[in-house]
Amino acid sequence: MSIILAFETSCDDTAVAVVNSDGHILSDVIYSQFNEHREFGGIVPEIGSRSHIEQINFCTQEALKKAQIKINNIDAVAATFAPGLLGPLLVGAQYAKGLALGANKPLIAIHHIEGHIFSGYLETNFLPPPFLALIVSGGHTATYFCDENFLIKTIGQTLDDAAGEAFDKIGRSLGLDYPAGKIINNLALNGDKNKFALPIPMLKDRSLNFSFSGLKTKALEIIKKNAPFTDQSKADFCAGLQEIICLSLINKTFLALDKLNLTSLVLGGGVSANSRLRELIKEECAQKNIKLFLPKISLCTDNAVMIARAAHLKLTKKQFTSLNQDVFASLPIEESYKLYC
Ligand code: KG4
Ligand code: ZN
Repeated sequence: MSIILAFETSCDDTAVAVVNSDGHILSDVIYSQFNEHREFGGIVPEIGSRSHIEQINFCTQEALKKAQIKINNIDAVAATFAPGLLGPLLVGAQYAKGLALGANKPLIAIHHIEGHIFSGYLETNFLPPPFLALIVSGGHTATYFCDENFLIKTIGQTLDDAAGEAFDKIGRSLGLDYPAGKIINNLALNGDKNKFALPIPMLKDRSLNFSFSGLKTKALEIIKKNAPFTDQSKADFCAGLQEIICLSLINKTFLALDKLNLTSLVLGGGVSANSRLRELIKEECAQKNIKLFLPKISLCTDNAVMIARAAHLKLTKKQFTSLNQDVFASLPIEESYKLYC
């Protein structure tokens, strides 16, 4: 049995977790910077970095205490090294390096997307590779192929905005708090998805890429034209928007499954918490005989459990990272293999 202490600080959450090689979560601590960024309607990187510095030591002590474990009894320290905001990434990576050096433990660098793909790894119903992964978050919307050796290759990706970014930016124009995805999901529960006509992005395009900027422009036009919204019309608009984003994600995902002749699908990323997306994907997979793994809602948005689980894969292969390893704001997953494995 091995135990990993992991850090995820690529954006606005200071997350620390302790997870064992049975997949059991011994602790999962998250400090959210929501209140620090709230008045700015988005994330201010410098505020984020400072907040991570203030919180990381406390969160680590808390995670070790909850797991009832001492640093000397863990087997490796893992952290997100890319992609994300440079300052926040540096705080988590440098703190992890310090702990690894001080406690004489191996360091494991994890790519943030690898974390999302393997958020359910070691759970009993996680799917064996090969599979297709659809990762949808505030910063990423892409499909990935995971081969038998758990190596990842990018298949299709957004040409412009990520789906979560579309939810957040359109939500902001509706006067909703950041991040707006979950709020839109809740408002949509009482809305009629057919009241506002929005186009399904890339419907006729046969490539495996996504695009959400055209939808964003169209949605912003509709908001301008129909303002001020009543509670009901806001709910209707949210339901329509959510439906179109989900349909576009599903369309390209099933095109990719078909092209790659795959029968297993894994979801991940903040938007995979969306109840309508989960419902529609379940229906479509059942109809097309595709095996599906949906992460627990709490593991969809950023967390350190997913970093620990991805790191368990690397611990098995003894893929450790040098203490000289840098962090990167942007780095394709394929490039990360050349750098830190
Ligand atoms: O994975 P994540 O925590 O951070 C990134 O790596 O970007 O994803 C955050 C994104 C935000 O854009 C947020 O609005 C979206 O996930 N999100 C949702 C839901 N919960 C979070 N979008 C739609 N429906 C939800 N229930
Ligand atoms: Zn993420």
